[in-house]
Amino acid sequence: MLQINKLYLSVIAGCLVPLVWLGVDIALNNLGANPIQALHIRLGDWALRFLWLTLAITPLQTMTKWRGMADYRQLLGLVAFFYATAHLVVYLIVDHGLMWRLIAIDILESAYIWFGVLAYLIIFALAITSPKLAKKRLGKNWKKLHRSIYLASGAAMIHYFWQLKGNLAEPVLYLLLIMLLLGFRILVWLKNRQFNKMMLPKGRKQ
Ligand code: HEM
Repeated sequence: MLQINKLYLSVIAGCLVPLVWLGVDIALNNLGANPIQALHIRLGDWALRFLWLTLAITPLQTMTKWRGMADYRQLLGLVAFFYATAHLVVYLIVDHGLMWRLIAIDILESAYIWFGVLAYLIIFALAITSPKLAKKRLGKNWKKLHRSIYLASGAAMIHYFWQLKGNLAEPVLYLLLIMLLLGFRILVWLKNRQFNKMMLPKGRKQ
């Protein structure tokens, strides 16, 4: 059962801060010379940051043995999906006025957008299968499907790096972070594999 406690509510409030901050900047006309681009970029940046936070939950859970963290992983994943959807909506409606011919040309001409689309499709699939009922229905396949968050992160990272201009400090930090998180997962996987082998009765092949 989902525990709606003070911490959970505070995390929800924290996740909304970038949105409120963006709203204030829009109201104060504080988005710089190209407000549409700034809006688009800021929403994309937050989608990526929340994706990293979602990925960080499993290692944190392994280290702290705090089992209630799955609810926070689901919440942060949905927040990443929310910001990614807002990023996409700005691209489709505000930036391109739903002119599908222009959108198709832009997507065909910009390979980095293909990776954004791939990342979004995966995050979308994960978001709609995140409720407990979908988890029950999908059984073992749920875990397999939800492992594709790593593929989504890789695609989002390529999408991000491909269109970068200027300062590389933040992207390099993101890259280090994702390598650290992936490295941790691989170590845990190797450790579990070794443990399972040791637990097999002697003479029995896997
Ligand atoms: C259908 C899906 C997507 C489309 C069409 C799309 C489109 C774009 C475009 C056109 C830009 C360049 C913005 C500019 O410089 O004017 C961009 C940047 C970006 N996108 Fe996406 N995107 C998609 C999905 C995603 C997803 C799923 C994420 C993250 C999870 C993401 C994160 C970013 C980031 C971080 C940037 C760079 C912002 C910066 O320069 O700091 N995008 N996207």
